Amino acid sequence: MRHSAGLQDSRRCCELHACLGRCVGNQVAKRHGTSGREACGCGKHGVRLKRYSEACIRNSPFILEALRGVLGESGRLVEIGAGTGQHAVDFARGLPGWTYQPCDLPENHESILAWREEAGLKNLEAPLEFNLLDPEPPVPTCDAVLCVNTIHIAPDACTPKLFEHASAMLADGGNLVLYGPFKYRGKALEPSNEAFDQSLRERGFSGLKFFEDLVELANGHGFEFVKDYEMPANNHILHWRK
Ligand SMILES: C[S@@+](CC[C@H](N)C(=O)[O-])C[C@H]1O[C@@H](n2cnc3c(N)ncnc32)[C@H](O)[C@@H]1O
Repeated sequence: MRHSAGLQDSRRCCELHACLGRCVGNQVAKRHGTSGREACGCGKHGVRLKRYSEACIRNSPFILEALRGVLGESGRLVEIGAGTGQHAVDFARGLPGWTYQPCDLPENHESILAWREEAGLKNLEAPLEFNLLDPEPPVPTCDAVLCVNTIHIAPDACTPKLFEHASAMLADGGNLVLYGPFKYRGKALEPSNEAFDQSLRERGFSGLKFFEDLVELANGHGFEFVKDYEMPANNHILHWRK
């Protein structure tokens, strides 16, 4: 069973799952002393659906290698748009000095929790419910923000919010890392990315973003651009430092 899209509140969302409803409403909320923003991570209430993304299987080792080069030895990393949860497990395992905090819309939490439970990694937190359009960032502070293949899916208004939230969470010296396909002014888009961008827009997603626009947004939020890493399949990692 899938959560219905567009639900804003984890309690409402989890009414669809009696087990998650109990955990979110009682156990986890009490344990964290919050209003129930954290999703259930107890692992005692039935089987959860683990989803797979082929793209994650392909790109995970390359992104991890780049992250190892970019990030220091330890800190707290917030991933925005964590999707299936595969990256969260791969990167938390590959960056053992880092506490890894996945965040996403509630419909993805079941899969993230399933991957997390199976992996049993001490440094991988339960997912936080977070929509980029939320007024507040998912946590007050962190040392790195990662966002993979999300800004071309999320509505256009989410892109400036990503830089706003990242800037609010990161102290000076913190790292912001974006992965995905991007457009570059004055350079023809590769045929594969042209077709991808068109198919995204036809399906109602926002589509690929211009690198130059991202740099301008980042500058406006106190970031300094560090490096553009070319990745397989015409993808890039864009690295900024606050
Ligand atoms: C193509 S998936 C990528 C997921 C994962 N990062 C990966 O690489 O497999 C796009 C992600 O964007 C997230 N997303 C879409 N709209 C969002 C929003 N408004 N706020 C936060 N995340 C959003 C989706 O929930 C989904 O996890």
